[in-house]
Amino acid sequence: MDGPQDSSEARRAPSAATSDDPCADLSRRGFIQGGAAALVAAGATPLPGAVGPASDVMREATQVAQGVPTTLLRFTLNGVPQNLTVEDRWTLAELLRDRLEGVSGTKVGCERGECGACTVLVDGAPVYSCSTLAVWMEGRSVLTVEGLAPRGELSPLQRAFIEHNAPQCGYCTSGQLMSATALLERNPSPTADDVRRALVGNLCRCANYNAIVEAVLAAAGTAATGGAE
Ligand code: FES
Ligand code: FES
Repeated sequence: MDGPQDSSEARRAPSAATSDDPCADLSRRGFIQGGAAALVAAGATPLPGAVGPASDVMREATQVAQGVPTTLLRFTLNGVPQNLTVEDRWTLAELLRDRLEGVSGTKVGCERGECGACTVLVDGAPVYSCSTLAVWMEGRSVLTVEGLAPRGELSPLQRAFIEHNAPQCGYCTSGQLMSATALLERNPSPTADDVRRALVGNLCRCANYNAIVEAVLAAAGTAATGGAE
């Protein structure tokens, strides 16, 4: 299945910004620091496994509310086994961004399975983490954008994004990278149409789609045959 595996509404165009827009109150500086850095920060942060020491993770994740159902969750995050208590109501995006350290590169845009900013890979498949409960990750392997740059070295795809100016504001970038990573894993020689289909669930409000496609083709070495038009 192409694109993140979630709501069929993922193919719909993004709605216009409203007062509920999570970006509405952000300054440009804060927006860039929190969003555009998704690509570069992954390389700038020393991330042997993308999360802090196990003791730090446990301290964060065990801060659960009193009186709500919790579950002991065991899963692998960017190659590092995790064993922690989560509230059953937490989404995967919430667990990553708000409860763990060092994995905030996953962004939240619409928070309703439409934009793809929150895309991570679960057992190699793109998934909208805003619409996925953390407890569903039991026994699964989760890869976030930080996991693309182990030891701080950017992946060829990330370098191609930089070289082709694929990030503009950068807010969609981590999600685009994850969907493209899944594509290249199952199809190392995609055409431009293959890339477009794979990224159909990842919207870019900057509309920088051609550059994104060019970057993926360049990373695959198929730019000469594919063409981003
Ligand atoms: S699909 Fe938009 S934040 Fe998850
Ligand atoms: S680069 Fe701005 S939303 Fe895609």
